[in-house]
Amino acid sequence: MRTPLNNPFQPGSDVVPAVWAGRVNQIADWRDVLRPRLLSGLFERGRTILGEPGLGKSSLVRRIADDAASRGDWVTPQIRIALGSDPIARLAGALLALAEEAGLPTSREARISGLIDRVQAISAGAAGVSAGITLRGGSREEPHVALTQLLVEIGRVAIARNNVVLVHLDEVQNIDDDNALSQVLIALGDAITRAVTVTVPGLGNIERSLPIAVYLTGLPEFDDASDTRKGATFSRRFKVVLLQPLTDDDLRSALSVFVAPGWEVTLDDGERGAVHMDPAAVECIIRACQGEPFLFQLAGERAWYADTSSVISESDVERGWNDAMAEARAHVERILSRLPAREREFLRAMAELPPTERTFSKIATTMGHEKEANAGPTSQRLDRVRGIISRGKPYTFRHRALEALLTSDWPEL
Ligand SMILES: Nc1ncnc2c1ncn2[C@@H]1O[C@H](COP(=O)(O)OP(=O)(O)O)[C@@H](O)[C@H]1O
Ligand SMILES: [Mg+2]
Repeated sequence: MRTPLNNPFQPGSDVVPAVWAGRVNQIADWRDVLRPRLLSGLFERGRTILGEPGLGKSSLVRRIADDAASRGDWVTPQIRIALGSDPIARLAGALLALAEEAGLPTSREARISGLIDRVQAISAGAAGVSAGITLRGGSREEPHVALTQLLVEIGRVAIARNNVVLVHLDEVQNIDDDNALSQVLIALGDAITRAVTVTVPGLGNIERSLPIAVYLTGLPEFDDASDTRKGATFSRRFKVVLLQPLTDDDLRSALSVFVAPGWEVTLDDGERGAVHMDPAAVECIIRACQGEPFLFQLAGERAWYADTSSVISESDVERGWNDAMAEARAHVERILSRLPAREREFLRAMAELPPTERTFSKIATTMGHEKEANAGPTSQRLDRVRGIISRGKPYTFRHRALEALLTSDWPEL
């Protein structure tokens, strides 16, 4: 009954996983706040979603984008910024596709076709895009000008159609060129703060914001980009959300459908059937994955493959996890080894102490004298920028998989 073809767990892919857990607040923020406010012409900041690798930043925004598309909104694909690539050209290309959806290229207005030509030049990545494009007549123009103008035109059509425009830039920490970063953020920020005048029957002319939702996703390092790089207005234009691991309750409710009524599958002969999960198997997956979305998918995938019967048992999860342990460990070790040495040392020192003794001074002492001086800023960063620890009394780990790796024999169950 369980086959590779009907396995709903998908570790590591960029598609929205079929077995979805949590992120209730972020989805409600989109559905109940951001989208309705934008549709009514109210200003709403862009959203910057940051977090350690594998926490589900990209999946979350793709899920929101899928929801948007199903309501008739215009969404960009995940514009994934590779190191060294030109984010301005990528954004320009995505905006041209949105303009196409909005029907702008068929406009007979010279102003619009001229604008599209300018953005096409940017998207073609003509040498040194960030330095600007040459306009007819020979003068230079910074790329953000045309990008904002095009977004404004797309937004105007969206107002008439009563839908939202959603732009998603992923891996924003990879924008390493200062000028490119400020061009991109100004282009997007100017569009979302732009007020346009529309005529409402019975009310006359009113000013409103454009229905443009901007989502930026990436690693917490994005926060390191100084305000001069991001522009002084960045924090007024974007709201930063630091993503946390999933809670055990999130995972339990995600898996509850497997307990009853069962996960519906199609069998080889085209018949329908249901795969169930023993409640003990659910708890075992929860213990294995420690709130990590990636490990959740991995544990589920392996448990599915451990047998072919219609019920996933606790021993299926255990056997599956045995095969997955090396990969699970490597995943969390990668998160740890990516951190700067002093942050890693802080976490190691914290992990060495019994949970009740994890106070700042004890951790700093454990780190040894020459490192104590840095412990303050380091702990602050681990809390505020990365969300890996919480500086309460005592200090606790928020990243549960890192805690499990450092303080127990996890991934052993
Ligand atoms: N809310 C979620 N529920 C279940 N699985 C998730 C969730 N979010 C992400 N995942 C899974 O976790 C893995 C990593 O997600 P991804 O979005 O690529 O992380 P990030 O972009 O933060 O590095 C993927 O396999 C994805 O399917
Ligand atoms: Mg990602």
